[in-house]
Amino acid sequence: MKTPEETKELTWGWQGLSPGEKGQPVKGIPGELSCKWCSLPSRNSATFTKQHLGLESPAPPHLYVWGRASPFGPGARRQEIPARNKVFPLTPMAAQLDRDGRGFHILTPVLESTALSKAAGTRVYMKLENVQPTGSFKIRGISYFCQEAAKKGCKHFVCSTGGNAGFATAYAAKKLGIPATIIVPTNTPQATVQKLEEQGTEVEVFGKVWDDAYVKALALAETEGWVNVHPFDHPLIWQGHASMVRELKDLLGHKPGAIILAVGGGGLLAGVVAGLQDVGWQDVPIIAVETKGADSFNAALRAGRLVTLPEITSVAKCLGAKTVSARALECASECQVISQLVDDVEAVQAVELFLDDERLLVQPACGAPLALLYTGRVQQLQREGLLSPDLDSIVVIVCGGSSIQMAGLQALKTQLGMK
Ligand SMILES: Cc1ncc(COP(=O)(O)O)c(C=O)c1O
Repeated sequence: MKTPEETKELTWGWQGLSPGEKGQPVKGIPGELSCKWCSLPSRNSATFTKQHLGLESPAPPHLYVWGRASPFGPGARRQEIPARNKVFPLTPMAAQLDRDGRGFHILTPVLESTALSKAAGTRVYMKLENVQPTGSFKIRGISYFCQEAAKKGCKHFVCSTGGNAGFATAYAAKKLGIPATIIVPTNTPQATVQKLEEQGTEVEVFGKVWDDAYVKALALAETEGWVNVHPFDHPLIWQGHASMVRELKDLLGHKPGAIILAVGGGGLLAGVVAGLQDVGWQDVPIIAVETKGADSFNAALRAGRLVTLPEITSVAKCLGAKTVSARALECASECQVISQLVDDVEAVQAVELFLDDERLLVQPACGAPLALLYTGRVQQLQREGLLSPDLDSIVVIVCGGSSIQMAGLQALKTQLGMK
């Protein structure tokens, strides 16, 4: 008998099983399994459980294995196999399925970074949300929101975005077979508009900054009866993002000393707080990083109420919500949230360093939390008594971003007068 915990979806991916092996135990078959997070191949499940999960018993009777391309034909996507070790429990949120039974977001790896650890003087783990299908964490919450809307009969989505929420909406809409219109402000790079159009969505350029595009999206939702996909301010979005923390707990196995993340409108922050509360880690300090010129969260914290910035001057346009969500401000009263600012040059420098160190290209929005590590600010927070002097480890959410290429990075450096 399987307990509900053991049957909760789904921790393993496999590749290479050939037809005819239906019903065979996976152990010993000629095909290879591959770990869903790090793609490390293995020939049997026991190796996986030891290497990746490090879980000691009690041994349940079975481990579920699943894959995208089932060799057993449509509808047969799982195979029950004997397992000596404990099933890796994931919450139902980790297995959001589309019409074909496939997930929308992936479970992302957690990797230790030597370079970031050296810069911060403590072990730094990266939660690699940049490897999501749409290049950022946004797919988690937005696909969850869209799936719920689809269940209620949504006929058309509209989303106002600096880019990444739009990619996530376009992706989810396509999977659900529902049309979407994406509204972007005029400061959106042409390459981003083109990439969105290539997703098969209609793109409309409207307004100077995201807030203007948002007003347009609301108007369309009202007049056309479309469902407005808010890029950061909805409980379903936060619930979707929260899956990241549950995965983190499972993969890391221990509580980190702090979590560093970027704040734009505050959806990521709200999702991480929801996740921390879910797993009982609400005492983990969160370092919430913005760039100067897109610092509506910092301004709100200092004022003790929501503040609307007159304009967004930072190059990290994805962080450019003139007013942060009310929920973001609430989060600061529920958890220890340390607000930090970096300047644009530091964020862009961090993007470049991270590319060299980890061979990953991310947007300046993601460069902001990385800059905090690279500029020695963790140690400064420790000296100031805001963070424990004996931090064992830190997790940085590598939130990613799809709107960046080498040419764009070079253009940003030129714009900022960097070499
Ligand atoms: C790559 C990236 N990181 C961080 C953020 C900030 O997320 P939030 O608006 O949920 O605070 C965004 C928002 O668009 C983003 O695209």
